[in-house]
Amino acid sequence: MSRALFFPLPGNEVFAERLAAAVGGECGLLSLRDFPDGESYVRVDSDPFGRDVQIVATLRHPNDETLPLLFLADAVRELGATRVGLVAPYLAYMRQDTRFRDGEAITSRSYARIISRTVDSLLTVDPHLHRVKRLHELYSIPATAIHVATEVGLWIAANVRAPLIIGPDQESRQWVEGIAAAANAPCVVLTKTRRGDANVIESTLGSAEHRSCTPVLVDDIIATGQTMVTAIRHLREQGRPAAECVGVHAVFADGAYAALKAAGAARVVTTNTIAHPSNCIDITPAVARAFQTQLARA
Ligand code: R5P
Repeated sequence: MSRALFFPLPGNEVFAERLAAAVGGECGLLSLRDFPDGESYVRVDSDPFGRDVQIVATLRHPNDETLPLLFLADAVRELGATRVGLVAPYLAYMRQDTRFRDGEAITSRSYARIISRTVDSLLTVDPHLHRVKRLHELYSIPATAIHVATEVGLWIAANVRAPLIIGPDQESRQWVEGIAAAANAPCVVLTKTRRGDANVIESTLGSAEHRSCTPVLVDDIIATGQTMVTAIRHLREQGRPAAECVGVHAVFADGAYAALKAAGAARVVTTNTIAHPSNCIDITPAVARAFQTQLARA
């Protein structure tokens, strides 16, 4: 079988190179730019004929990235790729998975339909699965979600003194417990009420709970940062050591990273599913292992 050919969308080159090296694949070349009117130009510069093609695209800006992704997938297929997969370390449009208010679009479903029609398989990291429990409830193609609780927990164990793992809301329980097990640390899960995009109300720890520990806030996505900012403030008000903030996906909407620092976070640390200066935890080995398993099943 020929080696998989990885095509990174812009910004995904480092991740794709690491992944290709880990699985014995190679990276292909493509040219992608915007025409003056804003339409996309895509040219495939490495021959995909007869190859298993994998597009590597973290979907941090999905509205800008999805059309080029679709054009690229169609092009490599027309040029003879035997199979077209998508490796999306961060998978967008997973949070609006229900109609919270009358008339809202359930974008998780619509987005999954678009991607399922575009590629033959999907591999992603800790997608935001909450009301929807498994990717195949949304995606009609083989879709693999890997979990990096172990990688996150091991980083915490090696870098934080006496950590207390804190999940900011009930949804986080699924990864908080795995992270705490890997870090060999205690954990607590708070409750959160969201009043708006950047307005959350959160419970906090009992004032005597785990006082000798370093608080480590963990979440799958850091978006506006308000979930963590609110938790940091509560912990500071109790006179605890500055909280460490660890996220899987460094989404960081405008100003979020600075807001966390300003609120008093000791460190802000993320995995490299989205390239960002806060990336300290390399999850490409985990993605490579899952890729090999997916390949063996195909
Ligand atoms: C949602 O429930 C997620 O797990 C995160 O807690 C959320 O995306 C964080 O958002 P923000 O950083 O905007 O508070």
